[in-house]
Amino acid sequence: MSFERVCALSDIKEPGSLRVELDDVDIAVVRFEGDVYAIEDLCSHAEVPLSEGDVEEFKGAPTIECWLHGSCFDLRTGEPTNLPATEPAAVYPVRVEGEDVYVDVEIDDSLPAAASN
Ligand code: FES
Repeated sequence: MSFERVCALSDIKEPGSLRVELDDVDIAVVRFEGDVYAIEDLCSHAEVPLSEGDVEEFKGAPTIECWLHGSCFDLRTGEPTNLPATEPAAVYPVRVEGEDVYVDVEIDDSLPAAASN
């Protein structure tokens, strides 16, 4: 396990997302209602960057919405909450230390990725 610093907390809007690259992986680092998440920055439907979508609650879950066809992805699990996407996006563990946000892209994507700040 190796967490690496990806940005400052203040670099991310609340709610909102920031695209970062870590170990050749594009990641959307997302803030929503006091939590920080990291999700693969790629819609599983047609490879659009998720970081360009809206961050919102959908069906009770914190999600990021793909702007192209409207699938939302649960930021905790990466699972799409609605069609047309059917495959999950990878999610990664996040650690917030003070003003710094750390992500570990080596961890299995099925683990929850939320971290309180
Ligand atoms: S490209 Fe994302 S839902 Fe179609």
